[in-house]
Amino acid sequence: MNILITAGPTREPLDPVRFLSNRSSGRMGYALAAAAAERGHDVTLISGPVALPPPKDVQVVRVVTAADMLAAVKLQLKKCGALIMAAAVADWRPVHVGKRKLKKGRQQRMTLELKPTPDILTSIGRFKGQRIFVGFAAETHNLRNEAKRKLREKHLDLIVANDVTAPGAGFEVETNRVTIFDAHSEEQLPLLTKREVAERILDRLEAGRKT
Ligand code: PMT
Repeated sequence: MNILITAGPTREPLDPVRFLSNRSSGRMGYALAAAAAERGHDVTLISGPVALPPPKDVQVVRVVTAADMLAAVKLQLKKCGALIMAAAVADWRPVHVGKRKLKKGRQQRMTLELKPTPDILTSIGRFKGQRIFVGFAAETHNLRNEAKRKLREKHLDLIVANDVTAPGAGFEVETNRVTIFDAHSEEQLPLLTKREVAERILDRLEAGRKT
């Protein structure tokens, strides 16, 4: 199967030297890409800025902002049978992007005006066709309700929910503790390495393949 995977954070520039972003290291998405390629799938990985080596036998497309990631996903979507959105796309970007470095001056406060970035899954929902869409939910509270809401609203077949405040789970670490939801069931997994989590997600994806 052709599988498209996104990984890492996006960066939303504020000026030529600063950006808004988040703590995603790319480990979860890169583990998925490596595991899928080893299973013989044709894998394209759209990656935000991370410090990880490219996985073997995977085509890597590098992006910076949420808008770049949306454009790359749209371009690659046609040829894929499944999309896994493990990226932590920044939800907000500055309204004004300075062409020059913003100077500190003497003021004691600074207010940033932000606007939403494009929601990638929502934007591509109408092009889904027979493809399988897998999303992630990074939550700090109400994990079950939020995961089920995102499953419905983001056109997903599966959503992998992680409580990013739990020890050994979420951002940066080598392990994760997730619950996989579909429209009818939920499967709670123990603390596993991200590679093991990736294998369990791919088992579910392969079991539900439509093409
Ligand atoms: O990279 P690591 O350090 O290994 O950390 C792994 C992880 C915590 C980043 C990963 O396990 C994870 O949870 N990824 C999704 C993070 C996230 O953005 O969750 P969310 O609940 O905000 O978004 C829900 C879904 O919508 C996600 O599939 C996301 O990719 C997608 N999304 C979000 C925002 C946006 N503008 N467009 C989107 O498509």
